Amino acid sequence: MKKIEAIIRTSKFEDVYEALTEIGIPFMSTYEVKGFGLEHSSSQTYRGATYNVGFIPRTKIELVVTEDHAKDVVSTILRVANTGKVGDGKIFIMDVESVIRIRNGEVGELAL
Ligand SMILES: Nc1ncnc2c1ncn2[C@@H]1O[C@H](COP(=O)(O)OP(=O)(O)OP(=O)(O)O)[C@@H](O)[C@H]1O
Ligand SMILES: [Mg+2]
Repeated sequence: MKKIEAIIRTSKFEDVYEALTEIGIPFMSTYEVKGFGLEHSSSQTYRGATYNVGFIPRTKIELVVTEDHAKDVVSTILRVANTGKVGDGKIFIMDVESVIRIRNGEVGELAL
């Protein structure tokens, strides 16, 4: 199993959510996050105060899926969340050791 964490433009969240539902992924966790990428050094002064303009709200989605589904999920996010401009975000992929459904103790892919 793989855990996929993707930080995407908030404006792309609805499209990504719909596209993942269409490929049969009916679960995910989402978070509103603030962060910066390579542009973090840019700052702007407004009325005497300096603001880091690279510190932008984004949406983070997290899903744990089978290895087979992981490829589909990643390619779907890449296709839908890409605008080609800087700041499109990033996808992190991790191995997952175990998943347990709390209600009935099911373990592994059965619990997804
Ligand atoms: N290495 C990282 N670790 C954790 N979060 C990251 C990392 N890189 C980017 N992020 C998160 O992703 C968001 C978007 O990053 P962004 O797309 O600007 O990355 P980038 O490396 O600057 O690429 P680009 O050149 O496309 O802008 C950031 O605001 C931050 O929340
Ligand atoms: Mg950037």
